[in-house]
Amino acid sequence: MSLQEVGFSPKIITIPAGESSKTLETVQVLWQGFLEAGLDRGSTVVALGGGVVGDLAGFAASTYMRGIHWVCVPTTLLSMVDASLGGKTGFDLPRGKNLIGSFHPPRLVLSDPQMLQTLPEAEFLSGLAEVVKHGVIADPGLFHMCAQGIDHVRENLAPLVKQAMAVKIKIIEEDPYEKGMRAALNLGHTVGHALELASRFRLRHGEAVAIGMVAEAKLAERLSVAAPGMSDKVAGVLSRLGLPVRIPTDLPREEIIQAMKLDKKKHAAAIRFALPVQVGQVELVEVRDLDLVLP
Ligand SMILES: NC(=O)c1ccc[n+]([C@@H]2O[C@H](COP(=O)([O-])OP(=O)(O)OC[C@H]3O[C@@H](n4cnc5c(N)ncnc54)[C@H](O)[C@@H]3O)[C@@H](O)[C@H]2O)c1
Ligand SMILES: [Zn+2]
Repeated sequence: MSLQEVGFSPKIITIPAGESSKTLETVQVLWQGFLEAGLDRGSTVVALGGGVVGDLAGFAASTYMRGIHWVCVPTTLLSMVDASLGGKTGFDLPRGKNLIGSFHPPRLVLSDPQMLQTLPEAEFLSGLAEVVKHGVIADPGLFHMCAQGIDHVRENLAPLVKQAMAVKIKIIEEDPYEKGMRAALNLGHTVGHALELASRFRLRHGEAVAIGMVAEAKLAERLSVAAPGMSDKVAGVLSRLGLPVRIPTDLPREEIIQAMKLDKKKHAAAIRFALPVQVGQVELVEVRDLDLVLP
């Protein structure tokens, strides 16, 4: 291992793959492993893996001996363009995802697109939905790159990852603690999370976000936030990449609306959506009448 060649003596801890590992039990395994490896306040943890590994290792590092440094080496497209950036770490409780966590940014994020060669196609596509999202939020050039189709995307992975990372970095630098525009990153996620829940996680996160982006673009048209044609434009790019754009017909509309209400912040009368105005621009809009979302 090259870390050894330059004089480090890394100790490796592996965890079972998947969201079901994102628990306090795994955090304890990490803390214990850190102790056994003799990590002290001057040590650094390297998270090599997808978003699950990053969230867990980052959280364990943020709490071990009141916080030690960590480095993030994301190995999925989603973790490169999204999870590794912004300093959110944490784990799930049986009651819900990401309920416990901290803000503890890594000292370094090292994204190497070559890592993605072994990533299963479905995981790659799921991450690509977030790339398209970043294009819609703030980078028309990135959106047009995605519009060229999956072969073009694969041939231009390095610039694509770099541009998609740049969108999130700019937003979190301006609003690190989600007081305002960081919520723009929720584009597609208000409907998307509801679809994930209503489908009992049969839909992957990226698939649900893709469908959610199109539904929210339609909402933007209905509210005259976007000009007619916006949702077709987004749907065209997503479906050319192989992502779904329509709500599966077997998902009851009522369950989706219920899930959106569940997701809503307590005491809020309205749900705040990040809606596209045009490619490269979003606006935060409060919506009270959820029938407008799924007429
Ligand atoms: N902290 C944040 O700001 C933030 C933002 C978005 C998402 N997340 C979190 O990220 C998680 C999702 O991340 P993810 O999509 O990377 O999923 P993941 O970490 O579960 O990885 C997906 C699958 O791909 C495998 N894998 C990873 N890299 C691979 C590679 N190079 N080759 C082959 N297989 C590989 C993993 O073992 C896993 O089975 C969720 O828990 C989500 O809550 C966090
Ligand atoms: Zn997402």
